[in-house]
Amino acid sequence: MNIFQALIVDHEKQRELCARLLDAKQASDESLRLFDDLKSELAAHETAEERFFYVPLFEHDSTVDASRHAIAEHHEMDEMVEEIEKLDAHALEWARAVQKLCDKVEHHLKEEEEKFFPQAGEVLTEEQKVALAADYTAEHAAMLAKETEA
Ligand SMILES: [Fe+2]
Ligand SMILES: [Fe+2]
Repeated sequence: MNIFQALIVDHEKQRELCARLLDAKQASDESLRLFDDLKSELAAHETAEERFFYVPLFEHDSTVDASRHAIAEHHEMDEMVEEIEKLDAHALEWARAVQKLCDKVEHHLKEEEEKFFPQAGEVLTEEQKVALAADYTAEHAAMLAKETEA
């Protein structure tokens, strides 16, 4: 497994959680649980991805802009999650804000997969791609454990 494959495994988890959340439409215990899962998954993925994908990419001039842009979007998504948590889950606003977050998530994943991964593919060595996958996966699991116990 290389870093791109490892990241895509978790991108698919985010897509699936968003699809189920948007399917639920109305707030219910199930949609609140799905939102919580999405929140934990996003937080764990962002941190692990920053540590074991974007930090190494900052070392190369050609991937500085991509790294900076992606990390700024992580921050935007964190703020959207915080805003949703302040809303009444039964209000229409909640569903709208979740839709907006999931649109942002999909935009972000698509940009990473279609634009940043090919750029990263040119600067990371084959050994690095494999080593980063293992580091990313371990960190993601550790962060997710922390998120879900909190
Ligand atoms: Fe990301
Ligand atoms: Fe990602």
